[in-house]
Amino acid sequence: MKTMVIIAHPHLNTSRANLAFKHELEQHADIDVRDLYQEYPNWEIDVEREQRLLLQYDRIVFQFPFYWYSCPPLLKKWFDDVLTFGWAFGPGGEHLKGKEFMVATTAGGTESAYRSGGENWFTISELLRPIQRTLTKCNGTFLPAFVTYNANAGTDAYIAQEARKYVEHIQAGMLALVH
Ligand SMILES: Cc1cc2nc3c(=O)[nH]c(=O)nc-3n(C[C@H](O)[C@H](O)[C@H](O)COP(=O)(O)O)c2cc1C
Repeated sequence: MKTMVIIAHPHLNTSRANLAFKHELEQHADIDVRDLYQEYPNWEIDVEREQRLLLQYDRIVFQFPFYWYSCPPLLKKWFDDVLTFGWAFGPGGEHLKGKEFMVATTAGGTESAYRSGGENWFTISELLRPIQRTLTKCNGTFLPAFVTYNANAGTDAYIAQEARKYVEHIQAGMLALVH
């Protein structure tokens, strides 16, 4: 299984959680890691290159800090630019059929805040529905997300433990994730 992780963090170098996750991912030869904001500082996404890369992987993970209940804007632009009609969906748009997609996100909020009736009203799975539907519209399989809550207040030991759990999650087979 070939896995590509696309990290979308506008300030990855000064981040704590996402940078720790990146360092953990880099210990694993079977996972290719990319930094979207570094690759496209001018936001001019090379669509053909991105589509070529997608074809080379079985599982694609989108890793980002949760910003305003969604993803940072360059990743939204990546979806808008790369998932084109006739390639990703619509007539002839079958190139992503069978691909596994996953979100890995870090949130400042606590897990108890992300529940029905809680501070944020909704679970993160509910808030991720637009991304889930985007990827299933493109014939992909959307696997359960990996979510790290309390990403700012958590201790370094907690973040390190989450980083290890994150790698286990993205290396797990589909059946183990959706049991
Ligand atoms: C612009 C912005 C929006 C944010 N929106 C949310 C949010 O909607 N929900 C949440 O739980 N945390 C939110 N946060 C907190 C970030 O998710 C948190 O700082 C980040 O996950 C920590 O990861 P890092 O150390 O890799 O930056 C926001 C932070 C910023 C800067």
